[in-house]
Amino acid sequence: MEKDAFLWWQEAVFYHIYLRSFMDSNDDGLGDICGLISRLDYLKGSPDSLGIDAIWLSPFHPSPDNDFGYDVADYCDIDPRFGTLTDFDHLIHEAHKRDIRIMIDLVFNHSSNQHPWFKESRSSKDNPKRDWYIWRDARLGKRWPNNWESIFGGKAWEWNKATQQFFYHMFLKEQPDLNWRNKKAQEELMQTVRFWLDRGVDGFRLDVFNLWFKHQDLPDNPPRIGLRGYDRQHHIYDIDQPEMVEALAGFRNILNSYPGSVSIGEFLGNKPKIAALYCSEQQLHMVFNFDFTGCPWNPKVFQENILEWELALGDFCWPCYVLSNHDGPRRHVSRYGKRHPDQVAKVAATMLLTLRGTPFLYYGEEIGMLNVPLRRGQLVDPVSRRYYPFHSRDQGRTPMQWDATQHAGFSTGNPWLPIHPKYESRNVKSQLSDPHSVLSFYRSLLQLRRECDALRQGQFVPLQSSPKLGLAYLRSEGDNHALVALNFKGKPIRIQFDCALPHDSWKLAISSHTNSDAGIHGKEMLLKPFEAVIFFSDG
Ligand code: NOJ
Repeated sequence: MEKDAFLWWQEAVFYHIYLRSFMDSNDDGLGDICGLISRLDYLKGSPDSLGIDAIWLSPFHPSPDNDFGYDVADYCDIDPRFGTLTDFDHLIHEAHKRDIRIMIDLVFNHSSNQHPWFKESRSSKDNPKRDWYIWRDARLGKRWPNNWESIFGGKAWEWNKATQQFFYHMFLKEQPDLNWRNKKAQEELMQTVRFWLDRGVDGFRLDVFNLWFKHQDLPDNPPRIGLRGYDRQHHIYDIDQPEMVEALAGFRNILNSYPGSVSIGEFLGNKPKIAALYCSEQQLHMVFNFDFTGCPWNPKVFQENILEWELALGDFCWPCYVLSNHDGPRRHVSRYGKRHPDQVAKVAATMLLTLRGTPFLYYGEEIGMLNVPLRRGQLVDPVSRRYYPFHSRDQGRTPMQWDATQHAGFSTGNPWLPIHPKYESRNVKSQLSDPHSVLSFYRSLLQLRRECDALRQGQFVPLQSSPKLGLAYLRSEGDNHALVALNFKGKPIRIQFDCALPHDSWKLAISSHTNSDAGIHGKEMLLKPFEAVIFFSDG
């Protein structure tokens, strides 16, 4: 790729804000837009800022909160609990002033059952909006229209007594799927896209976009072995239908008329080859890779994953990486760093911020935020309640830990989810004043990334074919090279490179250890326990 061909979103670091947990401005225990505005300087624009480039904001539309905002009751408004459209305009203004771009969530596979469209649709069989959702009779001699299952558990069909038909929902029954084959519904959704672009947003995260179309005839999915009903089917008729290509092209045309706007798709399946089908100049800019959210703490597995995505995406699609998000049962420091959370957080951050691709940080990971252990009675998310204790999303969605005051400075009201019991020792304020904290390390990494072209634009070149104890790779851009080495173990290790380095002289740019003596000696280097280092080619 030509040097000047890099686009802002390829070089940017995104920060994912789960709005209701970020900052509360009106003491109701829920994060909101004004709260976020009051914390923008933390993200960018002041000497103490973290230094991110863009925010992805989780849904803030009016919603009955069956799926905490992913059940939208009005696509063109703000839930009063989060603010007003005027607050939103203010957010855009304040963010742009600091050179932060704002991306919002588009939840277009389904709406809430409280959306006026669905209320009309279910009111009678001949209502003009009936066909905006997917209604069917049971198949002759069968109990259901087909065998499809909801990914959240149970059948994907819900009976509507008044009109004596079933409607389809891939998620909760309160989240009926929209019918993308209905042109009017499709056009109305695209109007929403224009509405937010006109208000100044810089792009969208598309919620489960590869479910928009279902096979026209709704055939049964074939069976396979699996634990839950949903896993016991091959999802060949309810996911990834060919009509997606044209729908995404229409969506992209709109984005193209707002230069600089960007899209990133969340898709079910997480297969790199499928991701590659959806990223191009006619489709999405990027598609999420969630593999890291489930990887064991094993350098070989991470490297295999990186190489698999690099190969599948090739030169035409741009990778992106995520370690934690609002759907994961556990934040990555809780997954990997039980006994050494800070050390592991620094190693993971060094990897995330030095791979070829766009990193997405999840709010709080920069202070090494951990899951909050919750009892069943404390859970509010229906999915977490259903799958407790095996899978809980609430534990990784808890309020941001700003300082050591009551409720961690998040709110003076009663927070909607409990705060981590150890927030007094793990919070933004204390870490900002500690040069060795996880937060200070993230800030330094982000600074290095901004200064070094090779870290943002360089090719990814692994230095070991089968890493066992740690990872080592180059990011190479012309004659500039950055060498990254990561020790995944709590003991000193020796990393042997399988190939000669492109340079003889290297300068240590950063180490996660204050008293590092890491150096490159021919084809090997020594690293301290959980040490992460970056070297730059010298001269
Ligand atoms: C993916 C979102 O990330 C998740 O939180 C939500 O429950 C489902 N899509 C349904 O919208």
